[in-house]
Formats: sequence, C-alpha cells, structure tokens
Amino acid sequence: MSTSPEWWRSAVVYQVYPRSFQDTTGNGVGDIPGVTARLPYLSDLGVDALWLTPFYPSGGADGGYDVADYCQVDSQLGTLSDFDNLVAAAHATGLRIIVDLVPNHSSHLHSLFQSALGAPPGSPERDAYLFADGTGTDGSNPPNNWRSVFGGSSWTRVTEPDGSPGQWYYHLFAPEQPDFNWESPLVQRYFEDVLRFWLSRGVDGFRIDVSDALIKDTAWPDTADGNPLIPKDSASPVHDIYRRFRQIMDEYPGTTSVLETGADEDTVALFLRPGEMHQAFNFRFLKCPWDASALASAIAESLGATSAVGAPATWVVENHDTARAASRYAGEGGLAGSYVPSSTTAAQGAPDRGLARAKSLAVLALSLPGSAYLYAGQELGLPEVTDLPDETRTDPVFLRSGGAILGRDGCRVPLPWEGAAPPFGFSNAPQTWLPQPPGWASLTAQKQGEDEASTLSFFRRLLRLRRSHPALGTGRLVALTDPASAAESHVVVATLESEAALALGDASGRAAGRTQVVVNLGQCPAPLPQGRVVLATTELEGAQLPADCAAIVNLYAD
Ligand code: BGC
Repeated sequence: MSTSPEWWRSAVVYQVYPRSFQDTTGNGVGDIPGVTARLPYLSDLGVDALWLTPFYPSGGADGGYDVADYCQVDSQLGTLSDFDNLVAAAHATGLRIIVDLVPNHSSHLHSLFQSALGAPPGSPERDAYLFADGTGTDGSNPPNNWRSVFGGSSWTRVTEPDGSPGQWYYHLFAPEQPDFNWESPLVQRYFEDVLRFWLSRGVDGFRIDVSDALIKDTAWPDTADGNPLIPKDSASPVHDIYRRFRQIMDEYPGTTSVLETGADEDTVALFLRPGEMHQAFNFRFLKCPWDASALASAIAESLGATSAVGAPATWVVENHDTARAASRYAGEGGLAGSYVPSSTTAAQGAPDRGLARAKSLAVLALSLPGSAYLYAGQELGLPEVTDLPDETRTDPVFLRSGGAILGRDGCRVPLPWEGAAPPFGFSNAPQTWLPQPPGWASLTAQKQGEDEASTLSFFRRLLRLRRSHPALGTGRLVALTDPASAAESHVVVATLESEAALALGDASGRAAGRTQVVVNLGQCPAPLPQGRVVLATTELEGAQLPADCAAIVNLYAD
C-alpha cells in the first residue's frame, strides 16, 4: 500500500456495486461480507482502493441513492460490524475504502424528512428541505417549471399534518428523493457528523454524489427549458460547503474525496481549488464517441483543467449509470454516450469490436497521468444486459419513463464468478435480484483467470504494468496528437514520460525513457512507433496496430 498521504493522485479505484458483487446470505442480493470475501480477487487484480456505492438503509427508489439513514448499513447488506471487518480486512490487504456520500437529497423515509412533514411551514425542521408554496389561486400548481432528472416535475405537494393540501417540496431526482436545504444550519451540522462518523470508522475517503447541485436558486424562477438553476460560479456558497468538508477531512490525514458532477471541466476545477476537494470524476471518456479527434480533445481538455488547479485528472470508462463500454462501442462509431443511455441502442453492433475498443480505452485510462476508476465487471469485459424482463427492472429512469428508456439496470447485473450456470457463484439463491444471462458462463472470473488470452488476464497485466512502469499513471503527458491531425490519422498517440526521466533528461536534449500509448480509432492498421511494445490489446504482427486496438510502446529499448 502506498504510504503517501496523496496516494489518491495516481490510485486505481475499483467501484463495487455491493448489491451485485457477492451474496453471502442467500437472499440473491450482494452484501458487505461478500465484498470482504472477494478481497483476495481485488488484491490480485492489482487495484489500490475500492469505492462502494451506497449500502445504507434506503427506500430502494434509486439503487441506494435514496438514503434513509446515513450512519447505518442496510440490513439486507449486513451490519456496521460487517463494515468494520471489511475496512480492517481491506487495510490488511493493502486496499483502501471509499464510501459514497449523498448530500444533495435523502430518502423521503429519512427521519429528518419525516420530521419536516410533521412540522409547520417555516419551522427549522421544514427548513432542512426545500419547501415552497405552490402557485395559482389555491397553491395547487408547483412553485416553478423545473423538471426532474428522472422525468416529470421536480415538485411534489404534501398534505399538512391537519389534512389540508400543503406546500411543495423540491426533488432534483425522484419524488422519493427530497433535496436538502444546504442553507440550513441543521443540515450542515448533520453532514459534519456523518463525515466524522465514517472517517472515525477508518474510511479513506468519500465519493460525493451530485456534488455540484447542493445550492439552488431559491427565488425559484421559471427557466426557458425547465432545467434547474444551480449556481456553480466561483463565489457560490456551494464552495463554502466543500471548504468545511475539507477542514474536517484534514483532521484525518491521508483521506480523499472524489466529486461526482456533470459540469464542464472548468466549472469542476473550481471545486478542486486549494482548500476545497481533492479530485472529481472526469466523464469525458464515458461520453466520448469512437472518434480520434473527440478522444484527443477529451484528453487535452481534461488534463488542462485539472492541472490549472493542481489537482490530478481522473479517468472513467464505466460506472453504474452508463451502458457497459463493450456494448457502448459495439456500433460503427460507438455511441455518442449520453449519460443514461438506452441499453437497446447499446446492444446494436459487433460485440468483438465493442470489447476491443473498451480494452483500448482502458489502456489509455490506466496510462494517462492521474487516477483511474474501474467499474466491477469491466475487467471481465461484461456487456450491457439488454433483455432483462421488465418486471425485474428497478431503475426509476425505466419506471418513470413508462419503459420508454431502459435505464441503468443492464450495467448492474450481478457478477459471474464461477460455474457453468447462473447464479455463477454470486449467490446460493435460485434467483438473483437481477437475473444473469446464461451466456455469461464463458465470462466468469474463474474461467477467465485460467485463460491468458482473456479480458481478465489482460486487465491483470495492464494493472501490473501500471504499477511497475514509472511513466504510467504517475508520469507526465509530454505530447499528444492534436485533434485536427487525429481527425486525419484516426490515431491518438499520447507520449508519456516519468517524472524521474524528465528531471534527468539526456545529453542530446531528448529525455530518456519516453513511452507512447497508441490507440487506433480508424479502420485500417496504423504503424507503431519504433520501440519495445510492452503491452497490446491484441496479438501484434509486425509493427502494425490493428483497428480498434491499443499498444504501449517504450520508445527506447530498456
Ligand atoms: C448517481 C446515480 C443516482 C443519482 C441520484 C448519481 O450521480 O451516480 O446512480 O441515480 O446520482 O442520486
């Protein structure tokens, strides 16, 4: 385990979706002891830290992102003592633990929201959430025209304790996810306690959900497009929230945070200024079509924005909100990559092409300077599951669109570990919370672990190389194909150099030990630079890189 307090600057963080990782109780739902049981697999894979998506008691309206108690473990997933065991075992194995913090909204079942419902308008209890009077003569219209991310109005009307129709509360997401009022001292104090609760249990950091949306324009003006007005400028009070978080986290040295935000790079960088948060997800790869020019821009702009504030870049190819990369890139040009894509679209195309591209993008993500995030199952090359029976789907995106958008269940299917039929060692239950495709028999971790040519073996080699190669992850990008020439060549070449080599240089003025990561996004083979290929996504013949493939080349023989 790296002993640097800034370990997170170049860490590989593996995202665990606990409900889909490993079930130890036979209820068909993964749990915390299941994560502990699989630590040897993760350590062997070669990651540095785990990020667990929410495992707290929840109303189940949004895959755990509707938290009913921030300081407890959902009884389906285990107990606090199971969590303590996980932290201890992970640390003993050299792995760090990051937990999810959901500060924008709670579950409607949370005791603070229940108190708000029982208290009168204008009370401190009600002030913990965003209540407003309706419009129209009897207040029966919502306060404004803002739309929820999951469809429909962002407002739901309550019945007051005396039975009369009452105020409305704001929810950026589902009605079961009321937004907190971050101007309320009660909310601020509450979250300070939540931070300390997990920090004192030994967690190494927080992934902060919907981090940039905590402050809304509570004059509640209508907007032309129905999108909410969320001030994110440098002077927004949202930055004070993170300065306070940072003060608390600094009491626990070596801890980190990673912000989830859909904002553009320059806005995100404001949250990473000194005294604010540590790093933020960069979703450019998640959204990037299979296009060399777009990819080159994504790399340049991501590194430009973070280096301006001294924060590390992060690289994300998959997560629990987006169709699996192997399916996303199966189509001719890949998907344009909307944030919550329909998995129907993702299914079209050639699976081999999708997998080849997904591996190539992972090579870049794990080579470029900064930290990289892997989503459970990415290392197995799992595809999006597109044919889940409707009645098994749980995503509010599916439910609230009347099934028009398939939503995100297809990337949350339980992992296949071993054996020839579902549940593939994930569970003893005859049925898992989302059914696994029988065809995953060829994709189990066990089967792939025995095959040097498998996607899992490839990821193990890539992660091992990243740890041993000084230019990967911790190096510096010294040259990159510019977007205009990438549009011509369909190839992206990132030239990396280790900090040590940069410091030394050589007599000819050329720094020693340069490494190039080459990704071929065209349709014809591309020439590789002269040097030693230290890793490639496919078997190479000669110095040619096939279409949809990537290679890492040490330019000068070691
Ligand atoms: C999470 C989603 C969730 C949403 C609302 C997102 O950022 O990643 O899974 O639905 O926040 O909490």
